[in-house]
Amino acid sequence: EKGGFDHFMLKEIYEQPRSIKDCMRGRIYPEEGKVQLGGIKEFAEKLKNIDRIIIVACGTSWHAGLVGEYLIEEYARIPVEVEYASEFRYRNPIITEKDVVIAISQSGETADTMAAIEMAKERGATIFGICNVAGASIPRLTHAGVYTHAGPEIGVASTKAFTAQVTVLTLMAFYMAQQKGTITTSKLIELLTELDHIPEKIQIALESNDLIKEVAEKIKDSTNCLFLGRGSGFPVALEGALKLKEISYIHAEGYPAAEMKHGPIALIDEEMPVVFIATQNSSYEKVISNIQEVKARKGKVIAIVTQGDTEVKKMADYCIEIPDANEAFLPLIATIPLQLLSYHIAVMRGCNVDQPRNLAKSVTVE
Ligand code: M6R
Repeated sequence: EKGGFDHFMLKEIYEQPRSIKDCMRGRIYPEEGKVQLGGIKEFAEKLKNIDRIIIVACGTSWHAGLVGEYLIEEYARIPVEVEYASEFRYRNPIITEKDVVIAISQSGETADTMAAIEMAKERGATIFGICNVAGASIPRLTHAGVYTHAGPEIGVASTKAFTAQVTVLTLMAFYMAQQKGTITTSKLIELLTELDHIPEKIQIALESNDLIKEVAEKIKDSTNCLFLGRGSGFPVALEGALKLKEISYIHAEGYPAAEMKHGPIALIDEEMPVVFIATQNSSYEKVISNIQEVKARKGKVIAIVTQGDTEVKKMADYCIEIPDANEAFLPLIATIPLQLLSYHIAVMRGCNVDQPRNLAKSVTVE
């Protein structure tokens, strides 16, 4: 049932080119520059004039929400707030009938996310769900929704469900932009054509597995690890850190790279591995100066870079290449090496990768 892999987690990591394809099937029409989301179609008109989107989720799904914030604000120009479901439900948040709440949950059973939905619903918001498990409780509570179609995820650490959530959010951002007229058809043709080929780029990213294993060997005995990124590389950093801590029990933190000098930089010495999302996009130069700051303090730098990069290679201790892509799709690709890195470190440390201690696949208690 593990399809020849040692663990479900590894199998699920390798399934991503296929799971993302499944997630996009019948939803994107690159030649026409069109996105179709049957699940939220009946709200197509409403989307033209909503005031704001609130995304509620927990854990990895919350990280997907942060990626969604970048994409929806960039393309559909609708203000987005991303909330931990557990915090949102216990505040007295301001919610109106012109708000759309998007609840993201792999399992569709997370207690805090369900409670957040119920509260927002009582206050008149329209609720969309992004879930992986068909027929779970959350899809039944929402007004409409889009399934991720990633297939069953057995490993407690979310991998393919995360990239499928990000894919759905990307589609939603484009769909909303299309409805609102904040994107041209020619731009959509360009973006969807590239998105259509993202599964192949993920396949290429997976081919760095042996190199990633070597890097894992070098840092597996660390007690701490920092993950830094900017823009949509920031949620990728958060996700990389969560993955490492949950399966390898190494203390890890994700930060926006620029926040480093407001505190975490004090932690850096020769014992501290720092993983950078340092791909060639709008924040490339800024990230390079952050890498220099870490090197000046003798930190060990592991960088996720764009294929063919030469600048970061001069500074970093280890570089892992990923194919070049539009910034909008960076999280889908840059996440892959981080999943593999935590996986190998956890295996090397003898941890129970598929069922880490103290964790459950669905958190049905608050
Ligand atoms: O099923 P959900 O997406 O609602 O679960 C939310 C979190 O419990 C989940 O993402 C958790 O953080 C994972 N173990 C992360 O890998």
